[in-house]
Amino acid sequence: MTTPITRINPVLIDIPMPVETDRLTIRPPQPGDGIRVTEAKRETWADLTRWMDWATGEPDPSADEAVMREAQARFILRTDLMMLAFDRTTGKPVVFTGLHRNNWHARIFEIGYWVPTSARGQGYATEAANALTRFAFQALAARKVIITHAAGNEASAAVIHRLGYTLESVERFGTTLPDSTVVDQYRYARFDANGLPDLAIRW
Ligand SMILES: CC(C)(COP(=O)(O)OP(=O)(O)OC[C@H]1O[C@@H](n2cnc3c(N)ncnc32)[C@H](O)[C@@H]1OP(=O)(O)O)[C@@H](O)C(=O)NCCC(=O)NCCS
Repeated sequence: MTTPITRINPVLIDIPMPVETDRLTIRPPQPGDGIRVTEAKRETWADLTRWMDWATGEPDPSADEAVMREAQARFILRTDLMMLAFDRTTGKPVVFTGLHRNNWHARIFEIGYWVPTSARGQGYATEAANALTRFAFQALAARKVIITHAAGNEASAAVIHRLGYTLESVERFGTTLPDSTVVDQYRYARFDANGLPDLAIRW
């Protein structure tokens, strides 16, 4: 007789929030966030429509508000952990991020991020991804944290390299860009938080 595999119901996993660094407060979406997402998308749309598969059509406040409320629900259900990172001084959202495609049994999580044009070049994406990497290992008992980027997305690759992720695989023709180009996808992983750039963090 084989022993059945016991799998935890992810809804029962406690996820401490918010996560704070010296510069950022990182939290799940909540009602009212939609308009801020729309504003951030509008200033960044040309770049987002280059790289992000969800960036089609035009940013719309009602649609974004619905996405934020649905994402809050998915966070509670643990099916996806979308998060927003706010600059603690200005209160502005500076990174749209989260832990996605989560495998709660294997404890494997994937970080995603985008930064509004006006907030680029200040290390916010690197700081948020550093924080979520630490959070995944230390608060969620991660075995592995993944970040991927499409071939040619050098800004995203730079974030990944700054955080000491190592290349795990290159999937040939692994992703389709919004303009329908099919390109390779680079997949990087970390198996612990050792050697990440120093970061004061609490949750
Ligand atoms: C990928 C993306 C988030 C990178 O944004 P970014 O602003 O370049 O990244 P960071 O916020 O980490 O900032 C890094 C830059 O700030 C500088 N910087 C300033 N202060 C810093 C600090 N305290 N820590 C780290 N970097 C700092 C770095 O030197 C770097 O500048 P450089 O690009 O001139 O070398 C952004 O290009 C983006 O949103 N792209 C579209 C969406 C996307 O492709 N997402 C990834 C999908 S895989």
